[in-house]
Amino acid sequence: MENSTVLISADEIAVKLAEMGQQITKDYEGEDLLMVGVLKGAFIVMADLARQVDLPVEFDFMAVSSYGAATQTSGVVRILKDLDQEIAGKNVLIVEDIIDSGLTLSYLMKSLRVRRPKSLEIATLLLKKDIQRVPIDVKYTAFEIGPEFVIGYGLDHAGKYRNLPHVAVVDTE
Ligand code: IMP
Ligand code: MG
Repeated sequence: MENSTVLISADEIAVKLAEMGQQITKDYEGEDLLMVGVLKGAFIVMADLARQVDLPVEFDFMAVSSYGAATQTSGVVRILKDLDQEIAGKNVLIVEDIIDSGLTLSYLMKSLRVRRPKSLEIATLLLKKDIQRVPIDVKYTAFEIGPEFVIGYGLDHAGKYRNLPHVAVVDTE
């Protein structure tokens, strides 16, 4: 995109996700793992992170949408696509592109926790540190960023730019 500045390069992302994948491989050694991607944003992180994990991984996806205005997260999310499988007794790792207010994920965690997984953790590419309104325990974070709106590597602006190989900030002027 012309009116954007690279914030995190494709190489930097690759290095961090490789580290994260190695850590996950260590942490779940001898265990099965179900990686759950939150659509649509997480599809690229999921593909690249999963290939750095050396475990018998299974995959599933969820799609959620916030109720209300698109620019404000209300905290009430609608599950558009639920998991295909039961997660009782399984190690579940939710994979996210970005955690902003944390409201979406907090709701998602609540709805998954009652299904009694063996463990439930979060891996995210980006975390907007000072924005978080809901305290969430995020086990794996690749990058902490400021409050700026970012695109690329799965993240969209009005549905576009998810395929940028890097994370970029949209220039405002
Ligand atoms: P929240 O954590 O409930 O506030 O919502 C997080 C969701 O808002 C993410 O899954 C993204 O879809 C979207 N989002 C938040 N910040 C950004 C951004 O900077 N760029 C693109 N999407 C964003
Ligand atoms: Mg999202």
